[in-house]
Amino acid sequence: MRVAIIGTGYVGLTTGVCLAYIGHSVSCLDTDVSKVKMLSEGKVPIFEPYLEELLEEARPNLHFTSSYEEAIPDAEVVFIAVGTPPTPSGAPNLEYLSQAAKSVGQHVKNKFTVVVNKSTVPIGSGNWVGALLRNTYEQRSANGTLEAAVASNPEFLREGSALHDSLYPDRIVIGADEPRALEVLYSLYRPILDQTFTPPTFLPRPESVGAVPLLSTDLASAELIKYAANAFLALKISFINEIGMLAERVGADIAEVGRGIGLDSRIGPRFLNAGIGWGGSCFGKDTAALIATAEEYGLHMPIVEAARVVNKRQRDRIVEKLLTELKILKGRTIGLLGLAFKPNTDDLREAPAVEIAQKLIDRGVCVKAHDPIAGERFQQDYGHMGVQLCKNAQEVAENCDAVVLVTEWNEYRDLEWEKLGRSMRQALILDGRHILDREKLEKAGFQFIGIN
Ligand code: UDX
Repeated sequence: MRVAIIGTGYVGLTTGVCLAYIGHSVSCLDTDVSKVKMLSEGKVPIFEPYLEELLEEARPNLHFTSSYEEAIPDAEVVFIAVGTPPTPSGAPNLEYLSQAAKSVGQHVKNKFTVVVNKSTVPIGSGNWVGALLRNTYEQRSANGTLEAAVASNPEFLREGSALHDSLYPDRIVIGADEPRALEVLYSLYRPILDQTFTPPTFLPRPESVGAVPLLSTDLASAELIKYAANAFLALKISFINEIGMLAERVGADIAEVGRGIGLDSRIGPRFLNAGIGWGGSCFGKDTAALIATAEEYGLHMPIVEAARVVNKRQRDRIVEKLLTELKILKGRTIGLLGLAFKPNTDDLREAPAVEIAQKLIDRGVCVKAHDPIAGERFQQDYGHMGVQLCKNAQEVAENCDAVVLVTEWNEYRDLEWEKLGRSMRQALILDGRHILDREKLEKAGFQFIGIN
C-alpha cells in the first residue's frame, strides 16, 4: 500500500521504517529540512537500537520529503505522528496536529484516503481532525465532499525497544467510525498481525510470538485506550513505590514483595520495579492530559492524581536520603550515574536525573554525572545547570561524597567497585533502581543505601 507519515520523531520514524520493511511504499514527511536530509542519507537523528540498520534494509521502500505535494496525493493511508507537547495546564499543545490536518486537507485527492491519528491525542481529536480536513478540502475544491475517513491507531512502543514493540506487538488497536477505514488498516497491518514477514536478522521473532490480537473499535474508545494504558502502567509503578515506602519502615524487601505479587497472573510481574519512579515523554504527559480531559467533563481522577504525587515524592526521597546520611549537603560533591530517563535511549524528557541534579544544585551541591549516550544531549539542553559531565563512572566517583545510580544502564551493574570507592571522599552509594548487589558493594567497602 502507499503510505504517508507526517512527523519523523520516535513514533513516526519507527512506524514508517517498519511499514516499509514489511513491504509498503512509505513517504516520511517532516517540515524540518535538515532532518529529512539526514534521513535521506540513511542517518537516524535519534538514538534507538537497530533503527539505522532497519532503515537501511527498508530503504528501497522509503522516501523522505518535506513536501506535502509529494507525499499526500497518492497515499492510501496518511499517518499523523507529530508532537503534541504538554502545556502548563496539562492539556497537550495541538498546534502541530492542526497544521498537519490542514496540510493534508490541502493536498489530498478526491479518492478514499484513511487519515490516522498516531500521535497521542486527546479524546475527541479524531472528530476534530476530520472537521479540519473537510473544511480545508472543501475550501480549495469544487469537487464536493471529501472521500476520507479518520482513524485512531495508538502506539504502545517503548523507547529503546521501539522496533521490537512495533514488529512484535502485544496487540494492535484501531478505531474508526467508518468500517471502510478499519478494513484498510487491517490490510496494512496484516503481515504483522499474521507474523508473515521475514524477521530482520538483528531482531529475531521471539518464540512466544504468535498471531497478534487486533482490537478494532470506535474512534473514542481507541483514543481512550491509549491514555488508560499509560495511566495504568504509571500507577502500577507508583503503587509499588508507595508499598516500597512502607516496606522500608517495616524492614521488608520491596523486590521480593514485587515478585511475590507479580506472580499472581491477575497482576503480572512487569512494571513492578520500585525505584526513582517513571520519567519520559509519555507517562507524565498522558496522566496530566487524562486529568485535564476529565476536568472538561467535571470529573476528578483521584487515582491518576495519586500516581503522579507518589512519583514526584520518589525524587524528593533521594535528596532526603542523601541529607540524612551526609547531614550537610552544601559544599558536597555528588555523582549521578545515568541521565537518560531509562536505558537504551538518549531521551531526557522528564528524566529523574535532571530533576534530582537541580534539587541538589539548589542545596549547594556540586553535581557530576555520566551517561553512556545522553551526555551530549544533556549538555545541549541543560548545559546552563552547571553539572560537570564525566567520561565514565570512575571519573564521576573521583572526590565524590556520594554516588547515586539513577538510570539502570547495564554497564553500571558491574563496575570496578573497589577502585571506584577508593577514589571517593566517602564511599557512599545510593542505588535508585534496585540493580546493584548490596553484599558485593559492602564487601568493596561501600556504605550502601537503597530506595524502597
Ligand atoms: C511508555 C509505555 O511503556 C509505552 O507503551 C508508551 O507507548 C509510551 O510510554 P516509555 O516511556 O518509552 O514507554 O518507557 P517505559 O519502558 O514504559 O518506562 C517508563 C518509565 O518508567 C521509565 O522511567 C522507567 O525507568 C520507569 N519504570 C518502568 C519503573 O520505574 N519501573 C518499572 O517497573 C518499569
